[in-house]
Amino acid sequence: MSEFDGLEVGFDIPALPGMGEGEIATPCLVLDLDALERNIAKLGDYVRGHGMHLRVHGKMHKSVDVARLQMEIGGARGVCCQKVSEAEVFARGGIPDILVSNEVRDAQMIARLAALPKLGSSVSVCVDDLANVTELSEAAARAGTELGVLVEVDCGGGRCGVVSPGAAVEIAQAVLAAPGLRFEGVQAYHGSAQHVEEWAARRGALEAAIAIARSVVEALAAAGIDCPVVTGGGTGSYPFETGSGLYTELQCGSYAFMDADYGRIRGANGARLDAGEWENALFVLASVMSHVKPGQAVVDAGLKAMTFESGLPRVFGREDVAYVGPSDEHGVVDDPEGALSVGDRLRLVPGHCDPTCNLHDWYVGLRGGVVECVWPVSARGKLW
Ligand SMILES: Cc1ncc(COP(=O)(O)O)c(C=O)c1O
Repeated sequence: MSEFDGLEVGFDIPALPGMGEGEIATPCLVLDLDALERNIAKLGDYVRGHGMHLRVHGKMHKSVDVARLQMEIGGARGVCCQKVSEAEVFARGGIPDILVSNEVRDAQMIARLAALPKLGSSVSVCVDDLANVTELSEAAARAGTELGVLVEVDCGGGRCGVVSPGAAVEIAQAVLAAPGLRFEGVQAYHGSAQHVEEWAARRGALEAAIAIARSVVEALAAAGIDCPVVTGGGTGSYPFETGSGLYTELQCGSYAFMDADYGRIRGANGARLDAGEWENALFVLASVMSHVKPGQAVVDAGLKAMTFESGLPRVFGREDVAYVGPSDEHGVVDDPEGALSVGDRLRLVPGHCDPTCNLHDWYVGLRGGVVECVWPVSARGKLW
């Protein structure tokens, strides 16, 4: 008799509350809830202690439940997300303050963005082009709403963002004059510097980024424009933005779950980030499904269960076995001592948490090895 007996045939969740870790259908995303809560509380305390605000990045987990936890025990004022469709999910989920930390240029998506405050959330968006100010203002006027606007500054990432203080001032002036828009400040986030392994090299990249952000805020001040928000920062860089005296808000995302790629970068003390600073809270739970060759096990988690662009997963808590290669539905695991057997479970720390979470429908939350909750990956696949 299983706990699933008696339930409707064909339901699609991987586990039920009360089950043990060994009963979860695999491969599956699992969350160590104690570790997750400690990570969330730790960053909340840090941000509060430095007199800053926290707007966690919801694109990482795409989960209304995790975002709520980050507000309840981590003091976050709300979330960032990258797409209007993600913002729609968070607004429907009751998250009160949402920043689309990205540009929105498609007319239909601008209209949907402008309608969102009707659900009761404060909604803001980034802009790096004067023409976008008119598009957003007209859409907000049509919807009868107000949108917050931050000028995005390219501070070294080489993606979106204005590349001169003059352009930022011009956009800010246009926002201040545009009906339906509220000028909030500046976003300056240096994405490509986050994963630089050594602290000193990361500090160098961030010092240059912060100098660019500062030149924009100074140019706004010289033009008589107040800049209440300077937002940015991620798991690899937040101590630098915090120490700058310039930033008012952090946007960290991965700290809550962690992944193998972030785990290997070094903090100020030279230690790996996953050796004390942040705990691994997210795992792809996998099962050994074949063990017929000497020294090799095969698990049921491959390319469809996690992404590999940031490297192979780490097998959590085990030095004796190593995940060495994926195919669509399989993962080959080196098992030189023959320690594994069919049915054994491995907790895999994925290389990159954000795109891995987007591959799954559910998080199974564990406490003390027992399933406590099953949460939807609410904005999974919301890419538009
Ligand atoms: C604009 C922006 N802010 C913040 C973050 C969060 O970064 P992390 O997950 O590295 O903490 C990201 C992630 O890519 C981002 O794109």
